[in-house]
Amino acid sequence: MTLTVAATSGPLLGTGAALAIPVSPAKRGAPQPGAGSEILRKLKIDAAAVLKAEKATGKAGEVVSTAVRRDGVDTVLFVGVGDESPRSLRKAAAALARKASTSKSLGTTLAVGRDDEVVRAIGEALTLASYRFAGLGDSKPLALKRVKLVVEDPKAVKAALNRAGIAATAVERARDLANTHSLTKTPEWLAQQARELSEANGVAIRVRGADELAAEGFGGILAVGKGSAHPPQLVEMTWTPEGATQHVVLVGKGITFDSGGLSLKPSDSMVGMKTDMAGGAAVIATMAAVAGLGVGVKVTGLVPMAENMPGAASMRPGDVIRHYGGRTDEVLNTDAEGRIVLADALAYAVANLDPDVVIDIATLTGAASLGLGKRHGALYATTDGLRDALLAASVVGGERLWAMPLEEDYRDAIDSDVADLRNIGKPELEYSGGSIVAALFLREFVGNTVWAHLDVAGPARADGDEDEITKGATGFGVRTFLRFLEAASEDPDLISGLRR
Ligand code: BES
Ligand code: ZN
Ligand code: ZN
Repeated sequence: MTLTVAATSGPLLGTGAALAIPVSPAKRGAPQPGAGSEILRKLKIDAAAVLKAEKATGKAGEVVSTAVRRDGVDTVLFVGVGDESPRSLRKAAAALARKASTSKSLGTTLAVGRDDEVVRAIGEALTLASYRFAGLGDSKPLALKRVKLVVEDPKAVKAALNRAGIAATAVERARDLANTHSLTKTPEWLAQQARELSEANGVAIRVRGADELAAEGFGGILAVGKGSAHPPQLVEMTWTPEGATQHVVLVGKGITFDSGGLSLKPSDSMVGMKTDMAGGAAVIATMAAVAGLGVGVKVTGLVPMAENMPGAASMRPGDVIRHYGGRTDEVLNTDAEGRIVLADALAYAVANLDPDVVIDIATLTGAASLGLGKRHGALYATTDGLRDALLAASVVGGERLWAMPLEEDYRDAIDSDVADLRNIGKPELEYSGGSIVAALFLREFVGNTVWAHLDVAGPARADGDEDEITKGATGFGVRTFLRFLEAASEDPDLISGLRR
């Protein structure tokens, strides 16, 4: 689907087109159509009568339609914009894209008179709600090919819309990677995707295979990958803009399939575990977008990739493994594998990359979505500054994070008698705070570096379409990361301010 802009004064649409006009809820009396009433007059549509007949209320995301056949327009849609907040307009744009998905093209005045921020939100939502996974070749391609945003001054919104396009493409890439089934998606395949995206987008890349991982002491990534026929990989993508003095490291969990390993998951819980690399996908897709967005800080993306399988060579419950940098870990549950691969990557980042801030993202624990539900990601941060910056980035990006505590009282749950740490909490000590304990485990590997962790086991995957989210992998995290990096590029003090 391509998104273009046109002036309000320009010609109408081609054949097979839907035209959408915003509608605000009634302050008094009937809901009010917004920009575009002159077009309605031209099409000889009595908006008030349609809205009344369809019992429209103007609430965000409500769409009512009426058929016309005039000037190439087949359908007129009235889309509720509610309180016209960015969130409501995202909802409206997404609903519109869905409703118009069977039309060839859509023209809308939804963005008339909106500021850049909102134009971007509308652009992203129109695109993201129209996403289809084409990977297996069996999904019907979308009929909707062109969306035209009618605005007063097309030149003025070009930049915002361009950014919307880059961000939406990044989210779609993350969705594509996570939606790909694990028969195709081995660690080597995923690393190859990262390589191709890096080369196409001006990002440097280094991929370590099993031999290099062994030579350099990445004992965690190797241990998790041992049961699989497909060797583990570590992808390191680097964006180094000229003059950059600050460095952000992003780390994403890249488990291409999580069977649980010898601590095998029950069949029902295993379904969907092809998306257990959604965090890694978010990092890869973010890295592929930083050049296009002109990100001015140095960014490194690290994705440890492995397939967690039971097999003759698998790590066993009770094994003690040695992470990158030397810390030892008593593996008591091989299904808590995400933290094992992330620990290596975090330790590597802190020891070698001199980061100002490290942020990891992972489908880490089912526990994260028990409390927060499927829509919010659990956010942990070692400083209030980083927590607030990520919350702010998520809000403007249209994603939902919720701050969680790094509760010191639970730290002794991961003390081991035979190693530096154990990989799951002692049941009597973790107080069911499984997501918190996993975060505390990761924290052991970041030293004094300013660090945040996003546990996205809930929002990385959706059971159905909702707003700009589509069923399956959601690409969660990409928009927050991009907004964070854009904010850091605009404000040179942002990153130094994260230390407190
Ligand atoms: N990949 C899972 C977490 C997950 C669960 C993601 C559900 C998405 C949906 C992770 O590797 C895992 O299995 N975690 C265990 C940890 C436990 C063994 C301490 C869990 O959450 O049960
Ligand atoms: Zn697992
Ligand atoms: Zn997992």
